Amino acid sequence: MAKNAGLLILSLSFLFFLFFSVAVSRNVTFDHRSLIIDGQRKLLISASIHYPRSVPAMWPDLVAAAKRGGVDVIETYVFWNGHEPSPGQYYFEDRFDLVRFAKIVRDAGMYMILRIGPFVAAEWNYGGVPVWLHYVPGTVFRTDNEPFKSHMASFTTFIVQMMKRENLFASQGGHIILAQIENEYGDIESVYGDGGRSYSRWAANMALSQNIGVPWIMCQQYDAPDNVINTCNSFYCDQFKPSSANKPKFWTENWPGWFQNFGTAKPHRPPEDIAFAVARFFQKGGSLQNYYMYHGGTNFGRTSGGPFITTSYDYDAPIDEYGLVRLPKWSHLKELHEAIKLCEQTLLYGTSKFLSLGSHQEADIFEHSGKCVAFLANVDERNDKLVIFRNVRYNLPAWSVSILPDCKNVVFNTAKVRSQNSRVEMVPENLKASAGSGKLSWQVYTEKAGVWGAPDLIKNELVDHINTTKDTTDYLWYTTSFYIDGNEFLSNGSLPILMVESKGHAVQAFVNGQLQANSSGYTIKLEAPITLRAGVNEIALLSMTVGLQNAGPFYEWLGAGLTSVKISGLRNGGLDLSGAAWAYKIGLVGEHQNIFKADGNHDVRWTPASDPPKNQPLTWYKVEVAPPQGNEPVALDMQSMWKGQAWLNGKAIGRYWSLTSSVYNKCTQNCDYRGPFSPDKCRTGCGEISQRWYHVPRSWFQPSGNTLVFFEEKGGDPTRITFARRRVTAGAPA
Ligand SMILES: *[C@@H]1O[C@H](CO)[C@@H](O)[C@H](O)[C@H]1NC(C)=O
Ligand SMILES: *[C@@H]1O[C@H](CO)[C@@H](O)[C@H](O)[C@H]1NC(C)=O
Ligand SMILES: *[C@@H]1O[C@H](CO)[C@@H](O)[C@H](O)[C@H]1NC(C)=O
Ligand SMILES: *[C@@H]1O[C@H](CO)[C@@H](O)[C@H](O)[C@H]1NC(C)=O
Repeated sequence: MAKNAGLLILSLSFLFFLFFSVAVSRNVTFDHRSLIIDGQRKLLISASIHYPRSVPAMWPDLVAAAKRGGVDVIETYVFWNGHEPSPGQYYFEDRFDLVRFAKIVRDAGMYMILRIGPFVAAEWNYGGVPVWLHYVPGTVFRTDNEPFKSHMASFTTFIVQMMKRENLFASQGGHIILAQIENEYGDIESVYGDGGRSYSRWAANMALSQNIGVPWIMCQQYDAPDNVINTCNSFYCDQFKPSSANKPKFWTENWPGWFQNFGTAKPHRPPEDIAFAVARFFQKGGSLQNYYMYHGGTNFGRTSGGPFITTSYDYDAPIDEYGLVRLPKWSHLKELHEAIKLCEQTLLYGTSKFLSLGSHQEADIFEHSGKCVAFLANVDERNDKLVIFRNVRYNLPAWSVSILPDCKNVVFNTAKVRSQNSRVEMVPENLKASAGSGKLSWQVYTEKAGVWGAPDLIKNELVDHINTTKDTTDYLWYTTSFYIDGNEFLSNGSLPILMVESKGHAVQAFVNGQLQANSSGYTIKLEAPITLRAGVNEIALLSMTVGLQNAGPFYEWLGAGLTSVKISGLRNGGLDLSGAAWAYKIGLVGEHQNIFKADGNHDVRWTPASDPPKNQPLTWYKVEVAPPQGNEPVALDMQSMWKGQAWLNGKAIGRYWSLTSSVYNKCTQNCDYRGPFSPDKCRTGCGEISQRWYHVPRSWFQPSGNTLVFFEEKGGDPTRITFARRRVTAGAPA
């Protein structure tokens, strides 16, 4: 035993030596069939895990779970606005420690695809481009525009240099086998006219000039230059054709689920259909496919795009938001990967033959040096079908692919899920005071409605929200006051009506300090009766953003905030306040004072409250708690609160919002996997709170003295907030 262990250590250290000390450069090229690494064609299964959507403490397990799932490559975007918060100021700590993440992937013995973008979309705030760049004079994003190109080129170069310094490109002995420039630009290029075309050319050339020694890819770039590989992003890519005959068929975004918006039901994609899509892709000549997402994770803080994308970015991915494998999806795909890998050599080096087996049934047969592989597909959306292939009868379930690594035996059928389902529970646990201190002690700080301190701006017009805050905060106060003569009120008792129009995303109207109306949406038309008094009235409108637009042509110009404020239902008709003198304040007192920061170094006076106020707007709550028991992943159950933000020990958990999805969303408990998938096909949770639980990473807790801070905008009951531990109660994978 001991001797063997010694041998093992010896050989391990030899491997270690080989891998790290002699980091041999790899020759990564491509031909019409696949990527070629050191002369070998490669069939690659890739998985998107975005490093800032989890925490460093989770990274090793996430990568290991991907590897166990049969994944060869980890793919990530690079998040420019996380890395360059102000021009030339870079940040690579904590969740944004890209090099650390890359090395975890490398040390797991996996490859990496680095999608630098640096525009990424990704349901990430502003598509990943820093908001400050919009305010560099003359800038227009993603077109032939000097300021944009120069900032984009410097960031791209910065990232490439950083990876080179660490020898992370395969050409240097590292594991990065592909890098991506721009993203899904071909779909909108024509909107930018000539500027679009010359910009995408420029982007490709700028990328190529970086000399990274591995190929560049561009997603959905139908006119990519010869030495750049264009790739497919979609629910199905079996019909995808690369832009020229010398390029392989790559699928950079295979969506195993979908993201969620606040106020909509949860989307799901059945494992049978995702497996079908993957098998069809390899059947039709694909050689690299990537799950977007394999682990979706969490949009911590204010990083979610949108507007209205939830803080959870679970994506119904094979690994759930909390880092637990999702069954049966994860294991069904694992079995699929094993089946496909059995076919790798024959698929990549064989000649292929197409054979029709019926009106909706087809075989693709690959043969190479005496070996034979067949994929038998039944693309009928309703009916199973018995087919005869090489004199053998095969029953092909509807909408399925059977994989025959020897042209005889079916080792896998995409519609037959053999792996167990798991049952996952969110086990509630009351917040408890830190050891010894007994009852929870809450502290409260209430913001006053309206401009506090000196206004940032006074104007006789309604200004754009984003232009004013530059997204340093979600919140912008618009306040004005006006005089009403007592005779103006209608004698029949009808109240005046406040009418507010806004470009979104949410607004609360305080009249004389009282919250009297609220609304939210992509555009807002609020109409609500309000109580005014004879004399001077103050109206304070809190405008809020809920994640900035992250894609679309000229998306950076989309505004937010109020465009019209009127009062009707007065004896003389009404009042148009749109051109009144408006005083503006960017952000809240609590934000300026960083009262959610762990060090508590601020001027705000918290008030102890044994029974904290409920249903009170604009209220900060603070409480010290013990960490939850056990070691399962943890969430906060926020259903007793309405809308706001939450922090633990100064770390931003994210926006919460107990918005209920419509009962009229299309929901189904038994999703039919057959037929083409779309995000609306299989939703659950209609009529329920769209996001109730908010992931709080375990690594953010200390053994004792953990500070939770909540900012509630409209009113909630903090005493009913609980933790919930995510527990798998059956069917844990082997
Ligand atoms: C890299 O691989 C390609 C294709 O297999 C080959 O043509 C080329 O000579 C190789 N380059 C080096 C430096 O080995
Ligand atoms: C009160 O009078 C106004 C203006 O004449 C009218 O529009 C409104 O419907 C009346 N309300 C009621 C409750 O009668
Ligand atoms: C907020 O708006 C909803 C929907 O219009 C309304 O039911 C609710 O009473 C409003 N709350 C306040 C405090 O204005
Ligand atoms: C923001 O300000 C810029 C410069 O003043 C202006 O061109 C732009 O139209 C404004 N955007 C919105 C949405 O109002």
